[in-house]
Amino acid sequence: MIVLKEIDRNNFFDVIKLKVAEEQSEFVATNLFSLAQAKAFPECVCLAIYHDEVLVGFTMYCIDDDDHEYWIYRLMIDAKYQSKGYGKVAMEKLIERIKEDIQHRVIYISFEPENAWAKQLYEKLGFVEDGRVIDGEVVYKLEY
Ligand SMILES: CC(C)(COP(=O)(O)OP(=O)(O)OC[C@H]1O[C@@H](n2cnc3c(N)ncnc32)[C@H](O)[C@@H]1OP(=O)(O)O)[C@@H](O)C(=O)NCCC(=O)NCCS
Repeated sequence: MIVLKEIDRNNFFDVIKLKVAEEQSEFVATNLFSLAQAKAFPECVCLAIYHDEVLVGFTMYCIDDDDHEYWIYRLMIDAKYQSKGYGKVAMEKLIERIKEDIQHRVIYISFEPENAWAKQLYEKLGFVEDGRVIDGEVVYKLEY
C-alpha cells in the first residue's frame, strides 16, 4: 500500500538520500533542495512516499503564492523503485488529499517537454494541457 507521510527527524536523512536516475536528474530538483525551499516558502508541503514500510519517493505541493491555486511542484520515485506503479498511486493519493479542499477547483503541474514519462503519467491521471509554458515547463491542469 502507498502512504504519504510527514517528513521529520525520523526520515529526513533517508528522504535526502533518494535519487532519480542520472538521465532524469534535470527533470526534478534534489529532495535536499526542495526541503530547503519549503523552509523559506512555508506554503510548500513536503511528503515522503512509502510503499508499506519502505520509503520510495518524495512529493511537494502548495497553494501557490502568486495565483493562490494548488500546484504539485515535485514528484520523484527513487530510481530503484520506478515502474512499479508507485508514482501513479502516490499521485492519486495526493490528488485525493487536495480535492478535499472544496474551496478550490483545479490542480496545476508542470514538467519539462522532454519528460515523456511524466507527461504520460499525468495524462493518465486526467491532467490536460493548460496552454501555458512557464520557465520552459509545460503546464497541465486537473479540474475537479
Ligand atoms: C515520473 C515518475 C515519478 C513516475 O513514477 P513511477 O513510479 O516510476 O511510475 P509508475 O510505475 O507509477 O508508472 C506511471 C506511468 O508511467 C509510464 N511508465 C512507467 N514506466 C515507464 C518507463 N520505464 N518509461 C517510460 N514510461 C514509463 C507508464 O505510462 C505508466 O503508466 P502505466 O503503468 O499505467 O502504464 C518517476 O519515473 C520519476 O521519479 N522520474 C524522475 C523524476 C521526474 O521526472 N519527476 C516528474 C517531474 S515533473
